[in-house]
Amino acid sequence: MMSYSQVFLLFVIIKIANLASVLAADIQLGGTLSASDPNSKWASPDSTFSFTFINDTSGASSAKFAAIVYDNNPGVAIWVAGGASPNGGAADSTATLRLMPNGNLELRNGSSNSLVWESSTSGRGVTSASLDNSGNFVLKNATVANIWSTFRNPTDTIVPTQNFTVNEALINGMYNFSLQRNGNLTLYWNNTIMYYNAGLNSSASSNLSLPSLSILPIGIIQLFDPQLSSPLNLAYSSDYAESGNRLRFVKLDNDGNLRIYSSDRGSGTKSVKWSAVSDQCLVFGYCGNMGVCSYNETGPTCGCPSQNFELVDAKDPRKGCKIKVDLQNCQTNGTMLELDHTVLLTYPPESKGDNTQVFSTGFQACRSNCLSTAPCLGSTSLADGTGFCYQKTTNFISGYQSPAIPSTSFFKICGQPEPNPPANSGSVLEKNSWRLKPWIVVVVVLVTILGLILLEVSLWWWCFRDSPKFGGLSAQYALLEYASGAPVQFSYKELQRATKGFKDKLGEGGFGAVYKGVLANRTVAAVKQLEGIEQGEKQFRMEVATISSTHHLNLVRLIGFCSEGRHRLLVYEFMKNGSLDKFLFSSEEQSQKMLNWETRYNIALGTARGITYLHEECRDCIVHCDIKPENILLDENYNAKVSDFGLAKLINPKDHRYRTLTSVRGTRGYLAPEWLANLPITSKSDIYSYGMVLLEIVSGRRNFDVSAETNNKKFSIWAYEEFDKGNAVAIIDPKLSRNGIDMEQVMRAIKVSFWCIQEQPSQRPVMGKVVQMLEGITEIGKPPVPKSAPEGSIFGSSMTGSNISAFSTMAASAPVPSSTSSAQTPPVSSLVSGKNPEKASSALIQSETDNALQ
Ligand SMILES: *[C@@H]1O[C@H](CO)[C@@H](O)[C@H](O)[C@H]1NC(C)=O
Ligand SMILES: *[C@@H]1O[C@H](CO)[C@@H](O)[C@H](O)[C@H]1NC(C)=O
Ligand SMILES: *[C@@H]1O[C@H](CO)[C@@H](O)[C@H](O)[C@H]1NC(C)=O
Ligand SMILES: *[C@@H]1O[C@H](CO)[C@@H](O)[C@H](O)[C@H]1NC(C)=O
Ligand SMILES: *[C@@H]1O[C@H](CO)[C@@H](O)[C@H](O)[C@H]1NC(C)=O
Ligand SMILES: *[C@@H]1O[C@H](CO)[C@@H](O)[C@H](O)[C@H]1NC(C)=O
Ligand SMILES: *[C@@H]1O[C@H](CO)[C@@H](O)[C@H](O)[C@H]1NC(C)=O
Ligand SMILES: *[C@@H]1O[C@H](CO)[C@@H](O)[C@H](O)[C@H]1NC(C)=O
Ligand SMILES: *[C@@H]1O[C@H](CO)[C@@H](O)[C@H](O)[C@H]1NC(C)=O
Ligand SMILES: *[C@@H]1O[C@H](CO)[C@@H](O)[C@H](O)[C@H]1NC(C)=O
Ligand SMILES: *[C@@H]1O[C@H](CO)[C@@H](O)[C@H](O)[C@H]1NC(C)=O
Repeated sequence: MMSYSQVFLLFVIIKIANLASVLAADIQLGGTLSASDPNSKWASPDSTFSFTFINDTSGASSAKFAAIVYDNNPGVAIWVAGGASPNGGAADSTATLRLMPNGNLELRNGSSNSLVWESSTSGRGVTSASLDNSGNFVLKNATVANIWSTFRNPTDTIVPTQNFTVNEALINGMYNFSLQRNGNLTLYWNNTIMYYNAGLNSSASSNLSLPSLSILPIGIIQLFDPQLSSPLNLAYSSDYAESGNRLRFVKLDNDGNLRIYSSDRGSGTKSVKWSAVSDQCLVFGYCGNMGVCSYNETGPTCGCPSQNFELVDAKDPRKGCKIKVDLQNCQTNGTMLELDHTVLLTYPPESKGDNTQVFSTGFQACRSNCLSTAPCLGSTSLADGTGFCYQKTTNFISGYQSPAIPSTSFFKICGQPEPNPPANSGSVLEKNSWRLKPWIVVVVVLVTILGLILLEVSLWWWCFRDSPKFGGLSAQYALLEYASGAPVQFSYKELQRATKGFKDKLGEGGFGAVYKGVLANRTVAAVKQLEGIEQGEKQFRMEVATISSTHHLNLVRLIGFCSEGRHRLLVYEFMKNGSLDKFLFSSEEQSQKMLNWETRYNIALGTARGITYLHEECRDCIVHCDIKPENILLDENYNAKVSDFGLAKLINPKDHRYRTLTSVRGTRGYLAPEWLANLPITSKSDIYSYGMVLLEIVSGRRNFDVSAETNNKKFSIWAYEEFDKGNAVAIIDPKLSRNGIDMEQVMRAIKVSFWCIQEQPSQRPVMGKVVQMLEGITEIGKPPVPKSAPEGSIFGSSMTGSNISAFSTMAASAPVPSSTSSAQTPPVSSLVSGKNPEKASSALIQSETDNALQ
């Protein structure tokens, strides 16, 4: 039995514990945090968030900031009193944050007692404050009404459960993010230049009354409005709906981009999962005044237009450039520096409004008009067919240079132009400019050939359509046609016969089942019975023509097709050795299925050549969309042949089955992050998948395998860590015999694979470059960590100013801006690289492996 004194003691202990928890949650008037004491903090009840002083995370100064941080990680400050550097919340090392007896929350420097920031809540009845588990710090009155809160006064971050409304803004330096009354998200520079404006189409936005925005804990930005029956999804983080104890938040960074970040609890890090502006160089003012943005191998970089300019701050190129000889001190009118492949960014209101700076003039007039107009500092002649010339009279100019930009820009300078020394060659984009000419030749030749083939086919059809012998002749013609390269049309009956009633099933893939068959001319073939194709006969034939006109040693060849009623079948050449996955991932007992290093290397190279042909060399460039070992087939000599190309386009675009949450998970290992984030799909998405396959060819392990051996990390992530440690040997397939390996080739393949699986598409090389790197023709730099860089935007570039349309002629490797977007199902931008928007359609993601055609 407990004695009374024991019970009393227990009671006291319980009381004290209660009191402690109350103290942890509620801050009374007079409560103070001090910067000099690192342990001084106000924590949320579950300790997820804490209000404390942190160092300047940009490292620019020794200042302290009073901030609410997640998980005690100063890198994830979700709110900063007075705004983060450079916004003015900087305090000194003895600063204090105090809830004053009059209810005002004040941040004061210790040295001078001067006020740095205040909540301006004195005399409004504030009696206490608390930090809740969602990270909201609230000043309350006696009836617990919310007088002031950090959620209602955001700085540069939005977290889950925070409701961001039209009256609020995220601010970072010169940049400002806000939600417009029509539901659009906008980014402004200096409150004037709007360089990002995306969201709903006008029919949906005209109905909104009080829109608000939030980020769901699972990583989706949603728009709410009383007029909407259900919230609209505006953007997805690439890790959305993935489980784990992680905080996802939206942040306006000091580089002017709005991003979704994820931070795993306990990791002390954060990583980018979505960026509003996919092309960082399109952020106005990113490189400061007179600065020119371009890309080097690692990402965006800032420089000056020419050596007539110098950096304002040699340590920070983002601060911009200044002219060495001032125009005012110039004896003559000055000269114009000419920069090819450069635009001076022009956004509303400069591109609209009174239009005083926009002219429709030719190239030379664009140059000379600016020269003779005193306030004009530079001009851009858009080579996009509009004939527009933008003259810059403002004193802020923001440039973007890239080989993919056709426009030319001029800067007014004094004296002779002194161009920058040429950048180091080997830039990923550079290839496109010289490829243009051979490309045109190839197009002309192929169009001619195709024309002849079509003529032949139509003549043949015209002659024989009414012939009673039609069926019987088909087989003979098959042989003829097969030799000439045109696809043969088979009847359903013929194929039924050839496959003995679809008996010998080779595999089952996302597009349908594949059967082995023997054609009338004794050719062994693989017959694919397509499912889910609801396209018209005409369109199907067009796609078949495209596929069958795509011939390459490393592509599986289409022999013919059948289109009868609802039957759609494709007949391919038969590949004796089946698909690559059987060889890579088979267990050790089946050693007869082992491929030695030389064969693997040839398969890697062959696959790369096949894809290069699809991307860069053939007439209607094709993005494969589903590269994985199951779709790489091996002929009797173990030559690699890529299969299933061009099929993604056949799937009914309205069929969203293939892009839903659940189906995405299946072959996730090979899908580029832009798939998961609903970003534009370009040929760079194939590069990512290829990189994963290449890593698997070297390692014999699935890139997404997780095991104790890999520290419970995904194999591809573990592999990079080992490579980074200098232990690349650990990546190599243990089943390969050590002495037969060419280590130099292995290292090349490993480096190429890490380049290919970069999260940011622009960092991945184009396929032609991959071939060169594998062949050893091109040097390979050390690949950066595959996960780090920002990603593209769900909306793409929504600006309609003609300066942006300059980018629509960008080649396959450049970011493809998607057009408008209905918010709920953002479109796949273009499966066909280049300028073929009408061919863009929804693409297919297979949830099961596609064992077709072995
Ligand atoms: C903040 O800076 C001070 C020196 O200015 C240093 O002693 C302290 O360790 C830093 N704190 C963190 C969390 O980096
Ligand atoms: C407070 O101190 C910081 C760091 O020394 C300084 O940058 C800031 O200007 C000071 N603010 C005021 C209002 O004195
Ligand atoms: C607390 O604030 C609310 C809203 O401003 C007000 O209605 C209420 O009367 C206040 N309570 C006290 C005790 O002042
Ligand atoms: C967001 O806040 C506004 C204004 O305070 C409110 O009208 C709206 O209902 C809130 N929305 C959500 C989803 O909480
Ligand atoms: C942010 O930009 C918007 C433009 O939509 C402007 O109305 C607003 O005043 C800006 N906010 C701040 C605090 O500068
Ligand atoms: C920002 O805008 C203000 C007023 O609109 C202007 O005075 C200032 O010069 C601008 N800043 C820059 C860097 O152009
Ligand atoms: C809102 O954004 C869409 C693109 O997402 C654009 O088409 C539309 O013009 C924008 N609305 C306004 C009023 O700017
Ligand atoms: C807008 O609202 C009106 C009436 O509230 C309704 O008739 C109309 O269908 C709505 N339009 C859209 C695009 O939702
Ligand atoms: C690319 O530019 C960044 C930023 O200017 C710089 O830090 C980096 O060293 C550059 N990389 C190369 C390979 O030139
Ligand atoms: C120099 O500028 C003046 C006006 O600023 C103009 O009238 C004159 O034609 C210009 N001279 C030349 C050679 O362009
Ligand atoms: C506009 O958006 C609404 C709602 O998201 C959608 O139903 C409608 O089809 C869209 N209209 C166009 C032209 O994209």
